[in-house]
Amino acid sequence: MISSFPALLLFCASFVFIGAFASEDLPLYNYSEVEKWGSKHPNYTACSTGKRQSPIDINTNDVVINKNMQPLTRNYHIYNASLSTDGIEVEVVFTGRGDLMFDGETYKLKQMHWHTPSEHRLNGVQYAAELHQVYVAADGSRSVVGILFEYGKPDPVLTMLKPQLDELAKEPCQDHERIVAIPRFDSRFLRRRPRKYYRYPGSLTTPPCDENVIWNVITKVKSISKDQVEALKAPLCEANKIKNARPAQPLNGRRVQLYDGN
Ligand SMILES: *[C@@H]1O[C@H](CO)[C@@H](O)[C@H](O)[C@H]1NC(C)=O
Ligand SMILES: *[C@@H]1O[C@H](CO)[C@@H](O)[C@H](O)[C@H]1NC(C)=O
Ligand SMILES: *[C@@H]1O[C@H](CO)[C@@H](O)[C@H](O)[C@H]1NC(C)=O
Repeated sequence: MISSFPALLLFCASFVFIGAFASEDLPLYNYSEVEKWGSKHPNYTACSTGKRQSPIDINTNDVVINKNMQPLTRNYHIYNASLSTDGIEVEVVFTGRGDLMFDGETYKLKQMHWHTPSEHRLNGVQYAAELHQVYVAADGSRSVVGILFEYGKPDPVLTMLKPQLDELAKEPCQDHERIVAIPRFDSRFLRRRPRKYYRYPGSLTTPPCDENVIWNVITKVKSISKDQVEALKAPLCEANKIKNARPAQPLNGRRVQLYDGN
């Protein structure tokens, strides 16, 4: 006979857990229920009702060359960094200085994280991975630099981070955030100045899907090895391992601009 006692305990425990969760935290989400994000919490409604959401599919034949756009000027002085995961994605959190300057505004580099496969598409093509470097200005507005990767040679940043990725993979999908220190983050990898990039107004690609993000997607596709894509997936929960990329969102009349510094 199966005793109902442990079942009752489990029921009570999960009830308390859900109760505590709803009152102080935003609910977790995953990529097998991407169409339900907007109804999970009032703070997530932009995910379903927003009109300038990200990512998008960029039609490279339908972009506006804007001669007034400026190069993305980036300065890095990173003192410390750590690699962390919440089972949804893998991210590098920076402490120190890292600036992105354009249109007279300075944004500070906060973190960067990866999506596998890519979230942005070029002419319908989805790539192996996408890196998002997240910058925040003094007024809280965000600017994200997106870099697409196709399968090929290993990416030097991920080669540098291999020991930390291997450490995170030892205990995948935990119910708490896992953090591993990066003793020396070599910021020379981040310093390159892109000659061409697309810009459009969009949103965070994860809940709460806030629409205060200026997107800058670099036109040049970089390369990543199969092993590195697997290493990015290894620490994640099953639903997000399959993919942690939100589908392309409607443009709703937005135009994509192109900066061409050539
Ligand atoms: C929901 O958003 C509001 C306004 O930004 C914020 O003050 C509040 O803390 C958020 N709720 C949760 C649970 O984070
Ligand atoms: C960098 O990390 C080390 C070790 O975690 C810590 O002791 C030090 O205070 C950090 N430095 C800065 C500038 O954050
Ligand atoms: C995704 O999240 C939903 C709601 O929290 C949950 O019911 C579902 O089991 C999750 N899917 C996976 C594969 O973890």
